[in-house]
Amino acid sequence: MVSEFAGKTVFVSGGTSGINLAIAEHFAGQGARVFVISRDPQKVGRAVETLRGHGAEADGMSADVRDYAQVEAALARCAELFGKIDILVSGAAGNFLARAEKISSNGFRAVMEIDVLGTHHVMHAAFPHLATPGACVLNISAPQGSVAMVGQSHVCAAKAGIDMLTRTLALEWGPRGIRVNSVSPGPIADTEGQKRLVPDPAAVEERVNSIPLGRMGTLDDVTALCAFLASDRAAYITGTVIPVDGGVTLNPTPTRMARFLDA
Ligand code: COA
Ligand code: NAP
Repeated sequence: MVSEFAGKTVFVSGGTSGINLAIAEHFAGQGARVFVISRDPQKVGRAVETLRGHGAEADGMSADVRDYAQVEAALARCAELFGKIDILVSGAAGNFLARAEKISSNGFRAVMEIDVLGTHHVMHAAFPHLATPGACVLNISAPQGSVAMVGQSHVCAAKAGIDMLTRTLALEWGPRGIRVNSVSPGPIADTEGQKRLVPDPAAVEERVNSIPLGRMGTLDDVTALCAFLASDRAAYITGTVIPVDGGVTLNPTPTRMARFLDA
């Protein structure tokens, strides 16, 4: 059976590793044309090869989402190669574990600019290239957008900002037939994000025990939600922040994890 994503155009910011690459690969495997960006040109090259390995038309560019001109050029190139964009994923993000009093102005700015300004840049520059009606925007959020976590003041502020962009743009773009939702993964195994948040392998079990469903998430858990939200079955869903987190938002990082910060 032909996938409903066959021939669709998908753009993924930060789509060269981890969760975002898995999302890009999922759509590539369904016959979509996929364009990815991130800063490191070697990562871009490797990701494009991986995506082509799924038999997909794929391309990419090195671009920093903090630089509007670079983002604009990437979206224009994607549309030139593959036509109007059906699925737009804003997933580029930065994270490190640090108490607020140890985050410099530049450190806080770096995360706010990658996450919040970057998401604005991606959506703004994509707007003229989005398929209307029918385009779907997926902003990659995190539990930090909804619950406070020790050592994550910058990320909590940034992801909450992304979630408000999601809601506001859903309001503004709904009449044009564009849906905008946030996908909020919990702790996903073997990802850069988890390595940064739980740097001590010995603490992983403790982290797992704090997750109501008793396990770390997988890349497939996240791509399944993205595929659903991008599908016709989700045609009446917009402006939401949907967790795929094993219930972790109900039971956020225990304060005792703060020992990593004080070591
Ligand atoms: N604790 C406190 N401050 C930190 C820090 C840490 N662990 N790591 C970086 N910073 C600060 C730096 O000291 C710097 O501030 P300063 O100039 O006042 O010293 C500031 O953050 C920017 O660092 P820099 O490395 O120059 O920024 P960058 O733009 O190259 O990188 C980051 C952005 C810091 C977010 C970097 O970690 C990154 O590139 N992350 C992308 C990958 C990632 O985070 N993946 C997980 C996604 S969940
Ligand atoms: P990752 O592999 O580090 O992915 C981040 C991507 O963003 C990389 O491709 C990186 O590539 C790119 N990037 C970073 N800064 C950029 C910039 N300024 N401009 C353009 N691209 C940039 O991390 P991950 O753990 O898979 O996280 C992916 C997404 O999921 C993020 O939005 C994260 O917040 C979210 N998330 C992750 C988890 C988790 O458990 N891992 C949980 C909740 C939410 P370059 O270095 O080449 O730029």
